[in-house]
Amino acid sequence: MKIISLNGSPNGRESSTNIMVEAFLSGAKEAGAETINIFLSEKKIEYCRGCHTCWFKTPGHCIIKDDMAEILALMKRVDVIVLATPLYFVNISGTLKVFIDRLTATGGDPHSNTIDENDGVDIQKPAAPKLVMISNCGFRDRSQFEVISLWIKRMALLMQTDVLCELYVTQGRQLRTKDLESGIVSNYLKLLQRCGKEIAIDKKLSEETILQLEQNVL
Ligand SMILES: Cc1cc2nc3c(=O)[nH]c(=O)nc-3n(C[C@H](O)[C@H](O)[C@H](O)COP(=O)(O)O)c2cc1C
Repeated sequence: MKIISLNGSPNGRESSTNIMVEAFLSGAKEAGAETINIFLSEKKIEYCRGCHTCWFKTPGHCIIKDDMAEILALMKRVDVIVLATPLYFVNISGTLKVFIDRLTATGGDPHSNTIDENDGVDIQKPAAPKLVMISNCGFRDRSQFEVISLWIKRMALLMQTDVLCELYVTQGRQLRTKDLESGIVSNYLKLLQRCGKEIAIDKKLSEETILQLEQNVL
């Protein structure tokens, strides 16, 4: 099992997003997964120019020469992609969105039909990696995550894949307080580790873990 995390926080390694990602990945590693943690804020990724050269002239290849090619190479043959972001104006961060737009080069022209008419099987695309969504926000209420929860499901539809789990923390700054005295933060991070472990082993969360996630809201 190979897992890649793409962290869209401008705060990179210092972000609350990364505290969540590291806990998740450490659990996955414990279960034998190979993990890669990418900080998009450290990469040079230009805006998609919308020229569609990557569809019509140089299929699969973007004309922009930046760090995107290196990341796409790493993403090849991973089983799970973790999309991680702070909540910005009830949405994913601009850093993550700029990266997502550049995935245009990996998708076919939606106007062309890649389905083999004989057996209905898509003849061009290998199975897409599964998705995990991780986010934290500043405010208190979990409804802040409604938009990205819908967004990640639509992304999965577009990529013809599934969302394995969504992990959201409100008032994310408290993750940095290391509230070890009461154990609330450390217990929550252990729960995230368990999520990583279960995803690495079963590609799904157990019912008990789902229940604990509902109960252990920070
Ligand atoms: C531009 C910007 C927009 C934000 N929008 C929201 C928001 O809509 N809802 C919210 O709860 N928090 C919002 N926040 C707060 C961040 O989500 C919060 O500080 C988060 O913990 C930052 O995570 P990070 O350390 O991973 O970057 C916003 C912060 C910034 C800088």
